[in-house]
Amino acid sequence: MSSGSPEYLEQIRKEAEAELASVNDETAAENFRVRYLGKKGILRELLKSVKDIPEDQRKQFGAGANELRIQIEEKFNLLHSQKESDVTVDSSFDPTLPGFPFAAGSLHPLMNIRNEIRDIFLSMGFTVAYGPEVETDYYNFEALNTPPHHPARDMQDTFYVTAKELLRTHTSPVQIRVMEYQKPPIRSIMPGRVYRNEEISARSYCLFHQLEGLYVDENVSFADLKGTLLAFSRRFFDEKTKIKIRPSFFPFTEPSVEIDVECFLCKGNGCSICKQSGWLEVLGAGMVHPNVFKSVGIDSEKYTGFAFGIGIERIALLKYGIDDIRLFYENDMRFLKQF
Ligand code: DAH
Repeated sequence: MSSGSPEYLEQIRKEAEAELASVNDETAAENFRVRYLGKKGILRELLKSVKDIPEDQRKQFGAGANELRIQIEEKFNLLHSQKESDVTVDSSFDPTLPGFPFAAGSLHPLMNIRNEIRDIFLSMGFTVAYGPEVETDYYNFEALNTPPHHPARDMQDTFYVTAKELLRTHTSPVQIRVMEYQKPPIRSIMPGRVYRNEEISARSYCLFHQLEGLYVDENVSFADLKGTLLAFSRRFFDEKTKIKIRPSFFPFTEPSVEIDVECFLCKGNGCSICKQSGWLEVLGAGMVHPNVFKSVGIDSEKYTGFAFGIGIERIALLKYGIDDIRLFYENDMRFLKQF
């Protein structure tokens, strides 16, 4: 039998199949693989020998040798993978039983609300900035046009750390920090935790969260403030939400306003959430006061801006229909599991 003949290939096939049939453990399988399918294995060598076959038989022999290699390899892989999946199952183990209920964590409801608000402003081109919770009197008050002895300081009962350091009472100081290191145009939101020395009750807690917003550029007008906050309210609450703008006072804005949104529960008809008024107070806002620009070195003749502050707990209380702010801080799983 010549080494280029079809019979020769048949001979190799028979030997390979017989050996494969007698493979009965992993070592034997590996030996077979090396002997036949390895780099220097019989089938590879066979393919290498094609070049020495007389020309008139070369093509046919090459195709036959290649096919043989593929078939043996497939048979080997089939057998080998069959061996691997051949797992014996303990009969006391019932794979159809449900798995252990691993408790998956979830985001705190306040973080859910913060993320929803943040994502709306991110989609409008705002960036996110953060500032420290232990602030200086300068950033929390003075740079925000609230000098010592200004009566507006009484609006915010402050936890002092030292005579000049305090726990920030609002996120507005981050506005100052942003304007100090960034020149206009500025479009930023600044979420964070704030502290007030207030008596703890269902309505107020010694700490809570705010989300500050700031937009500074040439020609920013009150219409931009209104348009931005209306667009936000419609995306956050309901696409037909109306807003009501009331004059108010904050030292760092002029004019200052408070914005009410139409109650999303009763659609303005009056219910217990909105205390029958049809409106919900949700944020404070205004046009940045020239004195604030002065403290950060921004030219108030060239630039204007608006700012706003949203109380995150307030929105969460309203949105989830919760009647006691303290629940957010008790870490009671029965409460948290509902979100
Ligand atoms: N900082 C204010 C507060 O804590 C909220 C606020 C009002 C922020 C008006 C602003 C603003 O940026 O323009 O009550």
